[in-house]
Amino acid sequence: MTQDELKQAAAHAALDYITDGDIVGVGTGSTVNHFINALAGMRARIRGAVSSSEASSARLRAHGIEVFDLNGIASLPVYVDGADEIDASFAMIKGGGGALTREKIVAAVSERFVCICDASKRVPVLGRFPLPVEVIPMAARHVARELRRLGGEPKTREGFITDNGNLILDVHGLEIADPVGMETRINQIVGVVTNGLFAERGADVLLLATAAGVERHTAKPV
Ligand code: A5P
Repeated sequence: MTQDELKQAAAHAALDYITDGDIVGVGTGSTVNHFINALAGMRARIRGAVSSSEASSARLRAHGIEVFDLNGIASLPVYVDGADEIDASFAMIKGGGGALTREKIVAAVSERFVCICDASKRVPVLGRFPLPVEVIPMAARHVARELRRLGGEPKTREGFITDNGNLILDVHGLEIADPVGMETRINQIVGVVTNGLFAERGADVLLLATAAGVERHTAKPV
């Protein structure tokens, strides 16, 4: 199977976590694009979606799925999104597509985070994938200096502006042994909007597509 076929398999498995009448939280990225295509096949059974990016909103609307404002809904039973890396505790690096801030907001509201990945995303230690950090533009040099102090090498994502009008610094060279600690530490740097560590609120369910099929893992209670 190709990597794209694995992503599609994980995305289809996520339909099992949708209940009739739901508003569904929808992430961003190539795996989620497969999920949106699959969701379109059951659109008459759901109320609509809350989206984590302009790109996903456009795709949802193109499929005739209503996109709700997060502030207009009382609760969100499920959020489905991909990851760039995920470890054994279901902490993740996300933001390869630059949508990390809205992803983190929708994830925070959702009752259950279902992560859909191909098996290449599973890692023993987070950090080989450069950690995206969304930054207010005037703070970029300050934040970059602080990130170097933490041992990383930040690089501005060239030609990229987030949906919120900010910059992304991709931080190379981090070996993240303490994902919750690092997430908290980076969020304390003045000028950081959010960082792509999803550890404080990690995934609840991991649907990991392998050549042998989609493995379904549930996070261990803490
Ligand atoms: C988007 O900002 C990201 O968080 C994605 O969820 C992540 O990059 C996974 O993307 P793919 O599904 O394209 O690998």
